[in-house]
Amino acid sequence: MAKDYCVLGIESSCDETGVALVRVSGQRLPELLAHALYSQIDMHQAYGGVVPELASRDHIRRVLPLTREVLEAAGKTLQEVDVVAFTRGPGLAGALLVGSGVACALGASLGKPVLGVHHLEGHLLSPFLSADPPEFPFVALLVSGGHTQLMRVDGVGRYQMLGETIDDAAGEAFDKSAKLLGLGYPGGPALSKLAEIGDPLAYKLPRPLLHSDNLDFSFAGLKTAVMVQAKKLATAQACAVEALPTAVLADLAASTQAAIVEVLVKKSLAALKAAGLKRLVVAGGVGANRSLREQLDRACGQRGVRVHYPELHLCTDNGAMIAMAAAMRLQSGIQAANEVYAFDVKPRWPLDEILL
Ligand code: KG4
Ligand code: ZN
Repeated sequence: MAKDYCVLGIESSCDETGVALVRVSGQRLPELLAHALYSQIDMHQAYGGVVPELASRDHIRRVLPLTREVLEAAGKTLQEVDVVAFTRGPGLAGALLVGSGVACALGASLGKPVLGVHHLEGHLLSPFLSADPPEFPFVALLVSGGHTQLMRVDGVGRYQMLGETIDDAAGEAFDKSAKLLGLGYPGGPALSKLAEIGDPLAYKLPRPLLHSDNLDFSFAGLKTAVMVQAKKLATAQACAVEALPTAVLADLAASTQAAIVEVLVKKSLAALKAAGLKRLVVAGGVGANRSLREQLDRACGQRGVRVHYPELHLCTDNGAMIAMAAAMRLQSGIQAANEVYAFDVKPRWPLDEILL
């Protein structure tokens, strides 16, 4: 591989089509030249969640126009792309096939190699795209819609699992609680917005595994507790849960958020202590949560711990994190792009399969 090269990244694992171009120059941190994103949220909203078949079809519609947009914004031609990276998994099979199919077709027609990227590694390395990039080693709190994990990260591909959820992920806890309260999809942003006007101390909700002697999480019981509390209030007011007064729903939302955030903050602090590190990196969609950021900043500030986040708009799925993860893997020499255009995807793909 030449000293300087461009990596095109394509993300299509769920309900966002993302494309981005990064430039790698020697051992410098890869630079994001341009990125473009199309979110399918409006389309799925009517169904209360992601409809896989609709997602795949929409990725097909968006991916090439977004690629053109990115190349134009970066002032590059398709021929100047040196590697085509794509999300290989985990994710929705049909949706992944669109991104990998397009990436392999582009690679084959341009005579350029391709590289399949692990979606979670994309999230994990996304803070390197921020104005305040971290340095290795650090503890990572990875909080997405499907995963909640604490990891020790010593370098690209050098991840050691410290703890993870035994049932629902933090994002899932936000989404399911929001659905129960009639807040629609995607639940996380809706619930956190409503929580801003609510009292986080209004209802006492469980903090699962808060005092366990390991770094695992469990959020499944929380949604049940939210449901029981919401139904109790609705019965008392003789109305449906969704018809409860906004102030009541806001208190429930704020109390739910407080429970999730408290567990995430305390377990992150415990992980830092166990790893003996003073640097925390937060990644994944829930990393956009304002209350989580405020409380982590406060708790870590008091303990001399630096916290790094992805830029707000790069917390949820995007192409930039895929291009970046591919670039960092290539740069660190742990993986080479190849000319096998057999677009095999891995809808289920544990992160530990890519460990060094
Ligand atoms: O990382 P991501 O985009 O997708 C996955 O790889 O899963 O994360 C999506 C998750 C959803 O559960 C969404 O509700 C949650 O991130 N999320 C939030 C916020 N923004 C997105 N949760 C809480 N507060 C937010 N502001
Ligand atoms: Zn994601």
